[in-house]
Amino acid sequence: MNKRIMYHTSLTLPDEKSSTGEAYRALRTNILRATQDKSMKVILITSANHYEGKTTTAINLALAMTDVPRYRTLLIDSDLRFPTVHDRLGLMQSPGLTEILEGSVGLDSEIMDTEKENLKVISSGNLPSYPAELLESEKLKSFIKKLKSEFDLILVDAPPLIPYSDASVLSSQVDGVLLVVASGRTRREDIQQVHATLQDNQAKILGIVLNKQRHFVPDRIYKRRF
Ligand SMILES: Nc1ncnc2c1ncn2[C@@H]1O[C@H](COP(=O)(O)OP(=O)(O)OP(=O)(O)O)[C@@H](O)[C@H]1O
Ligand SMILES: [Mg+2]
Repeated sequence: MNKRIMYHTSLTLPDEKSSTGEAYRALRTNILRATQDKSMKVILITSANHYEGKTTTAINLALAMTDVPRYRTLLIDSDLRFPTVHDRLGLMQSPGLTEILEGSVGLDSEIMDTEKENLKVISSGNLPSYPAELLESEKLKSFIKKLKSEFDLILVDAPPLIPYSDASVLSSQVDGVLLVVASGRTRREDIQQVHATLQDNQAKILGIVLNKQRHFVPDRIYKRRF
């Protein structure tokens, strides 16, 4: 076990048999289909605003992937503003992406093991002063290129698109983008704005994850008498 695992969290999908678990498995099927084409390997997960479920989607999708035999997934926390992947997986925050991009550490030494043999993680690292500039560096491009030969899928958890330019910068360096929309919360104008931003960057939108959807149980089911 990697020494940078700080504490053990339960690395399983929520409610294995629930509709939530099923939804992530369905997402996995779609991602597996998309990544059959080997040029589609690096997927950015972002959304319009904070708190819409990007990190939850990235982690649960990564976990769903671990059920696929011999399929190697890397999860990178590119949220250099409010990173949470390390916390949720019980890993150390640094060294991580910041230190790799700043050149103070080597790439291979910062890929962390998890309890799942076929899931590796790169934490955010320390918070840099200029995240967008750091993410725009040539170093990130060559770093992603190198990682592509080592993994079947690289999921990049990003900050939201509207408040910061970071995810916009990243969108032109990845193969595809998964856009998370929070049901009943993300505004239509915001979706239109992020769609336009991604199109300007010629990013390929792989799909939209409709998150936080409440299941509606019709009234009459409750009122029915047996
Ligand atoms: N499908 C879901 N069902 C229940 N709770 C969810 C779901 N998705 C996200 N949440 C909850 O919503 C909160 C925000 O989720 P998350 O951290 O994944 O969002 P985020 O978009 O990554 O936020 P940020 O922009 O701050 O990084 C968390 O408390 C998380 O547990
Ligand atoms: Mg997040």
